[in-house]
Amino acid sequence: MIQELSYVGFGSPRSSDWSTYGPEIVGAMIHSRTPDGTVRLAVDDVDFRICIHPGATDELRYTGWGLANETDLHAFAEHLARRGLSLEWADAPVLRDRGVAELAWFTDPWGLRHELSWGKGATPNSFRAGRTMRGGFVTGDQGLGHIVYQVPDLAEADEFYSGVLGFRLSDRIVSDHFDVRFYHVNGRHHSLALAEAPGHIGVNHLMLEYQHMDDLGRAIDLVEKHRVPVMQTLGRHSNDLMTSTYVGTPSGFQLELGYGGLVVDDLSWIARTYRKPSFWGHRFTEAARTDPPGILTPIATV
Ligand SMILES: [Fe+2]
Repeated sequence: MIQELSYVGFGSPRSSDWSTYGPEIVGAMIHSRTPDGTVRLAVDDVDFRICIHPGATDELRYTGWGLANETDLHAFAEHLARRGLSLEWADAPVLRDRGVAELAWFTDPWGLRHELSWGKGATPNSFRAGRTMRGGFVTGDQGLGHIVYQVPDLAEADEFYSGVLGFRLSDRIVSDHFDVRFYHVNGRHHSLALAEAPGHIGVNHLMLEYQHMDDLGRAIDLVEKHRVPVMQTLGRHSNDLMTSTYVGTPSGFQLELGYGGLVVDDLSWIARTYRKPSFWGHRFTEAARTDPPGILTPIATV
């Protein structure tokens, strides 16, 4: 069973910009910069969870899903093999690069690379926020945050992510121009969401949650001060109750910076359908209309 969104890796021509954007706007800590120019960011005591590799184009290179331990990883890999997925076990250089004990990866039917691992390195009391922060990020047993993919066909994607990978539906938001499914793997309301983008595959945003409202407020001040494009204004989501704003990054995808997300109890959880994504706010800005956020690649429909 997948237990958390553990880490993510992007490629980008502007990877070096994350050396300032990561700490100064978001409040992440620079864990390290590798000789090839990769910027590795930490948001807690786990050694690094966000890696931006230099590359010719903006792309999501991999999503890292964490499992509890060696036994769980091997059992899950066997389950996926029985369902017809072909997995590869990573060699020592990849294990070093991701900072995990063991890793098996596969490519999903739409070409996204998923990495399953256990034993990610951590250093107790190592996290130091990259700018003034009252606290840190909500992580721990809720993992890094959440990631939202845009998929060509929502029903097919649901069959794969829910049916094969075991993501559990939290709820749906369905309106005239909005159809999104949200999935949990731990207490976080969703670690994954899928939105339909006919003819395309890609990533819409990564969400990071602050422990304190003040740190979201500071992020909003810094976004304005440094003229970071805002994609959606401050608002509160109807399903996970997150108060958040969506901002542009140097690398095509957007970050949802949030506070106060809902924790779910899987034993008693009942999935609902909502008609509106937000109680208030989350208005799309002019920047979002002229340059729609997310990294989308055209894909041939099967
Ligand atoms: Fe989100």
